[in-house]
Amino acid sequence: MDTLHLLLDRRSVPARQLTEPGPDADEQARLFAAALRVPDHGKLAPWRLITLEGEAKHEFGRRLLDLAIRKDPDLPPARREKEAQRYSFAPLVVAVVAHVQQGRIPEQEQLLSAGCVAYNLLLGAQALGYSAQWLTGWAAYDRDAAAILGLDEDERVIAFVHIGTPALDVPERERPAPQSRVCRWTP
Ligand SMILES: Cc1cc2nc3c(=O)[nH]c(=O)nc-3n(C[C@H](O)[C@H](O)[C@H](O)COP(=O)(O)O)c2cc1C
Repeated sequence: MDTLHLLLDRRSVPARQLTEPGPDADEQARLFAAALRVPDHGKLAPWRLITLEGEAKHEFGRRLLDLAIRKDPDLPPARREKEAQRYSFAPLVVAVVAHVQQGRIPEQEQLLSAGCVAYNLLLGAQALGYSAQWLTGWAAYDRDAAAILGLDEDERVIAFVHIGTPALDVPERERPAPQSRVCRWTP
């Protein structure tokens, strides 16, 4: 698949439609090498990846469910069910973690660099023949959830990228017409 075709064809597949198989160890190594080649002002590498697979992924989901119930003991059954299943679908979930460093490089630029890592994971997964979805959800913004992942105080989750084999063909969704989002500046 040529690169522009890959970009023009890119679409997410909902995490609950992602099944086995996921990328094996060799594919993951290539995927992560590609994903980390992002623009990075100041060469700070203000990001890292944490993979969640197999039993560890299920345990992470269980701990998040416990945390959600601790925060809201009246969590309705439907929400409990959703929390319990969130990490049970895609065979591989990659947490993209940003570590914004104080200094001359603006925070925005470091977060955008981390966002590029997450986006590269989507593209790289598709290039390998898999599908993916970038999710955040409450856990990406919760310090107790960050502690479960083992993050430092100055780290945050930018994305949980769910990767696997699509269980169905996802139809194209309506996209904004490029001409509605592009204009030529005239002085
Ligand atoms: C930063 C970020 C966070 C997102 N978080 C969620 C999320 O928590 N839940 C969700 O349903 N979609 C979320 N999305 C949207 C999906 O990743 C995806 O873009 C959407 O399903 C549309 O599919 P598309 O990528 O084919 O346009 C998020 C997207 C971004 C960029």
